[in-house]
Amino acid sequence: MKKIRKAVFPVAGLGTRFLPATKAIPKEMLPVVDKPVIQYVVDEAREAGIEHFIFVTGRNKAVIEDHFDVQVELYDTLAQRGKDDQLAHLQRLQPQAGQTSFTRQQVPLGLGHAVWCARELVGDEPFALLLPDMIMQSAKGCTSEMVELYERTGKNVIAVQECDPAEAHKYGIVAMGPSVANGFEVTGMVEKPAPGTAPSNYFINGRYILQPQIFDLLSRQEKGAGGEIQLTDAMLKLMETQPFFAHPYRGRTFDCGSPEGFIEANVAYALSNPAMHDRVLGLIESFLDKPARS
Ligand code: UTP
Repeated sequence: MKKIRKAVFPVAGLGTRFLPATKAIPKEMLPVVDKPVIQYVVDEAREAGIEHFIFVTGRNKAVIEDHFDVQVELYDTLAQRGKDDQLAHLQRLQPQAGQTSFTRQQVPLGLGHAVWCARELVGDEPFALLLPDMIMQSAKGCTSEMVELYERTGKNVIAVQECDPAEAHKYGIVAMGPSVANGFEVTGMVEKPAPGTAPSNYFINGRYILQPQIFDLLSRQEKGAGGEIQLTDAMLKLMETQPFFAHPYRGRTFDCGSPEGFIEANVAYALSNPAMHDRVLGLIESFLDKPARS
């Protein structure tokens, strides 16, 4: 079984749900407490043993490349001012030379197309795919848990999470087959099922381990829902010849591509930071006691 060494981060979406904030700044660079969203996702991949980080970018996304570069002047200034802790912290987050690759999705034709743009950089090996606007909060990272399931099952693994059945029509939902290790085999998938028709209440939460044959299917460039090249359509085709397993993730997932999810993430991470917890909780309580006058 091949080790999962590479991860793909598709960051070429337009971020229309978060306009005007995302007009000039990529949504992946918006900060959750003190780190940009993309840093949480890259850290999760690194914890899972990923050695190569592949970003599929688009126009207005160059700042993501800068974020993961060495900032020589800044590092020198921090060293001269004796800010060794801050410098060490930045260096810990920094990928090593040669560990990152960037390619462009010239036109945002859909998530499936963005993934296909990484085909040459991934090559003929299984890879992790992390949607970079979804951040996951748990003691052990979601991707690490998925790699464990992959090591027991091989083939394809997707992370899923339970939702309120009344909300299932908002998500990509999987159909459940037999239990396998800590997860289950996936027998089908449906994007945004009509209310009352969802095959389960497990939604796909934005983390995948995929075999390279997905690229052959994506290369057909078939358009699906919304006129976009959909990853789900290619996964359904791949499922005809290869098994898919689901890892039920029990941590918290925040959709930072929407203002509500982004605020939830900021509150959750601030409250889980011991240096901020009391002050942030006190602030929230004071806002509830004395709402601002409109
Ligand atoms: P989303 O639909 O959540 O992202 O796609 P979006 O299109 O940026 O957001 P809205 O709906 O307009 O607000 C899921 C992920 O796929 C990437 C996005 O960057 C996001 O991380 N994506 C989507 C691409 O890279 N290219 C695409 O053509 C579409």
